[in-house]
Amino acid sequence: MIRSVVRGFGAALPKRVLTNREMEDIVETNDEWIVQRTGIRQRYIAGEGETTASLGEAAARAALDRAKLTPADIDMIIVATSTPDNTFPATAVNIQARLGMHHGFAFDVQAVCTGFVYAVATADAYIRGGLARRALVIGAETFSRILDWTDRTTCVLFGDGAGALVLEAAEGKGTIADRGVLTANLRSDGAHRDKLYVDGGPSTTGTVGHLRMEGREVFKHAVGMVTDVIEGAFNATGTTADDLDWLVPHQANRRIIDGSARKLGIPLEKVVVTVDLHGNTSAASIPLAIATAAGDGRIKEGDLVMLEAMGGGFTWGAVLLRW
Ligand SMILES: CC(C)(COP(=O)(O)OP(=O)(O)OC[C@H]1O[C@@H](n2cnc3c(N)ncnc32)[C@H](O)[C@@H]1OP(=O)(O)O)[C@@H](O)C(=O)NCCC(=O)NCCS
Repeated sequence: MIRSVVRGFGAALPKRVLTNREMEDIVETNDEWIVQRTGIRQRYIAGEGETTASLGEAAARAALDRAKLTPADIDMIIVATSTPDNTFPATAVNIQARLGMHHGFAFDVQAVCTGFVYAVATADAYIRGGLARRALVIGAETFSRILDWTDRTTCVLFGDGAGALVLEAAEGKGTIADRGVLTANLRSDGAHRDKLYVDGGPSTTGTVGHLRMEGREVFKHAVGMVTDVIEGAFNATGTTADDLDWLVPHQANRRIIDGSARKLGIPLEKVVVTVDLHGNTSAASIPLAIATAAGDGRIKEGDLVMLEAMGGGFTWGAVLLRW
């Protein structure tokens, strides 16, 4: 059977780092509160000329280099983002143009912080369905541009960045020993849509709007949702937490990450954590974390890797893959 195998990974961050200490000059907050409640120590903030598409392009080029491929080898681009450069066209076609590609096809998926998990699952379905052979899957965000910088309950949590994977069709045996995406487990429940949302949009206010969140409500649901989809992915493949080499969670909050790992019996040494460095970069957080841990040699060929996320909607999901 056809499997979607990771051939390359890449990441890009804005030049400007914003530390918790600097955040103290912007809103009534302090480093201790932010670190204790979230684990975040700094985040990157896009400056002039840095956009979701420019960061996504840089991450994509890094992933292509790593895969020893060029844009000519790619036939599909999927970008997970909630902060597109424009309402339309899709950021994916913007990146397609920046890469000088006139062939293939490109589109965005919007599942907020779960976007990258949805995008990998989508790319895998297209590849297995024969619609594409090589895909660039990108998570790219500039959440700094939709934050209310007077609201200390949200503006300290988020940051900007991008990450990308190259997925390629490869023949597998159909067992969990295969390299590539082994299963995906996606969920959403729009009943929770008003707990984490943006209060504007083209069809309602005609404005971009700002991020609004009931933090405590999100926190309350997060661990249960995340552990449910991970257990679903384990059950679908006959694997357990003991088989896992790496958990790469969405980097929203250290307490949610630790709570989920503990509930699943996954030791913290097997959990990739970058929330301290990047803050919550929404759909970019998982590919940024992957690039960090694969880049420093922790994630190696043959490793069993679980990606998981939850976010606005609510949306949540997990992908199990062999690196
Ligand atoms: C946002 C979050 C860190 C807040 O932590 P919390 O323990 O729930 O804190 P609360 O909202 O109950 O606020 C506690 C106090 O801290 C204050 N506070 C809020 N933000 C603050 C900040 N940045 N700095 C200092 N104090 C702050 C509150 O005003 C409140 O003060 P009060 O008790 O005097 O009213 C936590 O709810 C959370 O992590 N939620 C999940 C968010 C998330 O990950 N979202 C993305 C999902 S993709």
